[in-house]
Amino acid sequence: MENKIKANNNILELIGKTPLVKLNRITENFKGDFYAKVEAFNPGHSSKDRIAIHIIEEAERKGLLKEGSTIIETTSGNTGFSIAMVSIIKGYKCILAVSSKSSADKIDMLRSMGAEVYVCPAHVSADDPRSYYQVAKRLHSETKNSIYINQYFNELNMEAHYSSTDLEIWEQTGGQITHLVACSGTGGTISGTARYLKEQNPSIKIIGVDAYGSVLKKYHETGTLDTNEIYPYRIEGLGKNLIPTATDFDVIDEFIKVTDAESAHTAGEISEQKEFL
Ligand SMILES: Cc1ncc(COP(=O)(O)O)c(C=O)c1O
Repeated sequence: MENKIKANNNILELIGKTPLVKLNRITENFKGDFYAKVEAFNPGHSSKDRIAIHIIEEAERKGLLKEGSTIIETTSGNTGFSIAMVSIIKGYKCILAVSSKSSADKIDMLRSMGAEVYVCPAHVSADDPRSYYQVAKRLHSETKNSIYINQYFNELNMEAHYSSTDLEIWEQTGGQITHLVACSGTGGTISGTARYLKEQNPSIKIIGVDAYGSVLKKYHETGTLDTNEIYPYRIEGLGKNLIPTATDFDVIDEFIKVTDAESAHTAGEISEQKEFL
C-alpha cells in the first residue's frame, strides 16, 4: 500500500527555509520596503541551527564523529542550543562553555537539552584561561573522541550560510534586494550571505551591526584591533573582543554600532508593540 504519511523524519529536516516577513509599522517613517528574515522559525529558534547541522554533518562525512562522540563549543547560548538539539537527536554528547553574560533561562534550556554546561566569566580577555574560548579548548584536549566546533574560527560557519540563507533571500526577494542588514558576532551569517548576494549583484550594500564595546567596526575601518574599544555590554550574540576569522570583512560595506538600550527597545517594539501583535 502507498505510504500516505507526509511527515518529516525528525525536526532537523525543518532547519532553514525561514519566512521573509514585511515590516510595516516599525519602518513607517522610512522610504522603501523592509523585510525581516525570521530565523527564529528554525526548530532551535535561531540561524545557528544552520551552522550546527552543517558543521556536524561535515564532521560525520569526514569520519570525525562516531557513536558516543562528544561535541564541544564556545557559545553565548544560541549556537549551544542548536548544537545540543542536533546532538541529542543524533546521539552525541554535548559540552558547552558559555559566557556568564548569557541569560539564566538560556543556560537552563541548554541543560534541559542534555548539554553539560560550563559558565565562564564574560569580562576577561579571550586568552585568559577562564574565558569560554580557553575553557572549551581545554575540555576538547581532555575529552577523548571529541570535536570542537570553534564557530569563530571555522570557515564552515560561513559556508553554512552560503547557498542557503542567501539563496533563500535572493529567491524570496525575487532578486530585488538592495541592502542586507545583519548583526555580526562570529560574522558567519553576514559573510556567507553577503558573498553569494554580491556574486548575484555587486551593488547590493551589506551593513553589519556591531555593539558599542566591540572591536569589529574599528577593525573594518582601520585594519587594527584597538583594545581601547573594548568594554562590557549586555547585548548577546553581536560584537566581539577579538577578530573572528569566520568574518570576511571584504564583503561588508559598512558597520554601524548599537547600544544596549536602543537594541532592547527596538527588539521590544518589533516583537511586542508594533509588528507582531
Ligand atoms: C541568534 C543569533 N543570531 C545571530 C548571531 C550573529 O550571527 P553570526 O555569529 O553568524 O555573526 C548570533 C551570534 O551569536 C546569534 O546568537
